[in-house]
Amino acid sequence: MSPLITTDVERAAAAIRSGGLVAVPTETVYGLAADATDPAAIARIYATKGRPSEHPLIVHLADPLDIERWAPDASKAARLLAAAVWPGPVTVIVPRSPELPAEVAGGRDTVGLRVPAHPMTQQLIRLAGRPIAAPSANRFGAVSPTTATHVADDLGDRLDPATDLILDGGPAPIGVESTIVDCTIDPPQLLRAGAVTADQAAELIGASVAAASGPARASGMLASHYAPRCQVRLVDHPDDAAALAAGTSRARILDHGDDLARYARDLYAELRRADADEIGTLIAVLPPAEGLGHAIIDRLTKAAAPRG
Ligand code: TXA
Ligand code: MG
Repeated sequence: MSPLITTDVERAAAAIRSGGLVAVPTETVYGLAADATDPAAIARIYATKGRPSEHPLIVHLADPLDIERWAPDASKAARLLAAAVWPGPVTVIVPRSPELPAEVAGGRDTVGLRVPAHPMTQQLIRLAGRPIAAPSANRFGAVSPTTATHVADDLGDRLDPATDLILDGGPAPIGVESTIVDCTIDPPQLLRAGAVTADQAAELIGASVAAASGPARASGMLASHYAPRCQVRLVDHPDDAAALAAGTSRARILDHGDDLARYARDLYAELRRADADEIGTLIAVLPPAEGLGHAIIDRLTKAAAPRG
């Protein structure tokens, strides 16, 4: 096991306070966290991931009421959504408070906020005494990690054992990244599908939530993302998967078996396992476009997109 991996939350909080990086468990995927108020620590997140510096990070808070401090100008829609789902897998885009450095938001005047549901990470943020910025803890464009071991495999050689840690909170129970709702515009827009659907968000806000329009504002909106090394082919039906597999060498089928929660939870681990097993083509059966199915279809489509 990687010497970076620990379950010691106090040590992890001390690392954050000292400007270090800590990979943290959340209910969606693991994040690569640093003090959200420290530009130097934020710069290390970008460097470690190989992420372009104009791609904004999500700032994670410990308590839903903290939205008042870190986004005093948040819209009513943002407040309603946050109050209804936090702690939980939804990120709201709100005007950035001058207390948060521009670097955390890739230079924008808006910021993504969420309260993650994992108790270890909530405790970490409380002990650190400041919000933490955390993108998914993978190299830019690669598959998000859902276990501490995934993080160690991806970033272990880029983290510094003198300052950095990986906090092990077990496998992420949802398995796909948070729903992102841009609440700086009216009506709010869905920037990334997640476990909370656009329809559910609209119901909680009591107003419509539109599809994203305009230039891509979330890196998850790029056509190719979440990509394993193997080729990913998408089919609508298990019969089509079997037919395609019969004529394809080193193929493996990934099927939802009508359990979308399990499909989402295991999705990224399956993409990694396909690479580890040197699978040539992963043939994924698309789930129905309902509930978590929207987020799964989105991630599979990006995993299957031509690589730039
Ligand atoms: O579930 C999650 O959201 C995970 C866990 C760790 O919380 N985090 C995550 O972070 O997926 P990341 O950086 O991989 O994806 C964050 C997305 C990016 O696509 C980014 O462009 C978008 O959020 N984002 C962040 N701030 C934004 C802003 N101010 N405006 C528009 N998009 C923003
Ligand atoms: Mg990511």
